[in-house]
Amino acid sequence: MKKIFFGGPSITNAEINIVKDSVKNGFYEGMSIYLEKLIRQLNKTLKSKYILPTFTCTHSMHLALLSCGIKKGDEVILPEISWVATAQSIAYTGAKCIFVDIDPTNLCIDPKKIEDSVTSKTKAIMVVHAFGHPCNMKEIKKISKKYGLYLIEDAAPSLGSNINGKMTGTFGDVGCFSFQGSKIATGNEGGVLVTKSKEKYDFAKLYSILGRTDSKKPFWSDHIAYRYGMSNLNAALAYVQVKRIKELVKIKRKIAETYIRYLKNLNNVKFIYEPKYGYSNYAYPNITLENSNKEKRDILIRKLSSKKIYCRAMFPATSEMPMFKTQSKNINSFYVSDNSITLPSPPNLKIKDIKRICDEIKKYVD
Ligand SMILES: Cc1ncc(COP(=O)(O)O)c(C=O)c1O
Repeated sequence: MKKIFFGGPSITNAEINIVKDSVKNGFYEGMSIYLEKLIRQLNKTLKSKYILPTFTCTHSMHLALLSCGIKKGDEVILPEISWVATAQSIAYTGAKCIFVDIDPTNLCIDPKKIEDSVTSKTKAIMVVHAFGHPCNMKEIKKISKKYGLYLIEDAAPSLGSNINGKMTGTFGDVGCFSFQGSKIATGNEGGVLVTKSKEKYDFAKLYSILGRTDSKKPFWSDHIAYRYGMSNLNAALAYVQVKRIKELVKIKRKIAETYIRYLKNLNNVKFIYEPKYGYSNYAYPNITLENSNKEKRDILIRKLSSKKIYCRAMFPATSEMPMFKTQSKNINSFYVSDNSITLPSPPNLKIKDIKRICDEIKKYVD
């Protein structure tokens, strides 16, 4: 039985050759050539002026929040469902996470529910383009403007997604993408901070290099800061992958279309479509089981796993975790957390593999 992995990269000779090249030539005078190539490619892909490659997206999110001046005593609004990195990066600053429910139709923060959570301490909204689907940035921008809040985009999985051609990660004050191994474009690890503000870029850059200014002497630093930059070797791989982003999005969208075709007649399986206002890279296709519960969902995941089909359970609601514990009324998030499954979508997935996955699902859900 062929193993069907949850995710992974599309690696061609271009990636293999550039990684070899970066090992041979990415030192001495070549010590930043791939970083420079990646920056230029992202300038082009995202149509964004300032790009700072970082060690991971979590690092870029920490820098994004610091560059907006977020600190202890502040509150930051974020969706209840995300990878815990979103909340952790807020916690690093000392600010408090305020969790808002998601829209179960696209798994992004529900803009209609944001305003109820705004207080005099709110300083920022940190949205997540969940699983690649773009958030409703038009509505969210209206709210951030109305209350004078910073808008930060956790665009980790959403490279290539856009709204009328404007790329996710470029709507707010700062956006952050991930190049971790299961992302649509990978650098093995890596992240990037994107902003149109020179001031925020300069701040983030300085704080990513231990605050080194050389102002009084060589190697002088004026700040307690971090070492958060990306390596030249990771940048080499990420560069080729970003260059191929249109092709990679096409592959992911084809996978999503095939799932939709095979699952559309099931009454109790709801495929999570891209929102009408936006174009998704469909990095991670999801389904939500209707009239179900956590136990049934977990049984399905185990049954699939016994057939060597590796899916993932949805993230927990972050407010359930001990360090973020709050009384939460985010009922859509709790339902999705217990009843949704992220389906496999490695780029080498064949139509017949997807049929096999869907046939197995159909044995347990109607
Ligand atoms: C929504 C979201 N935010 C943040 C991250 C963190 O990315 P990284 O692992 O590059 O720090 C991820 C990575 O999986 C993610 O899915």
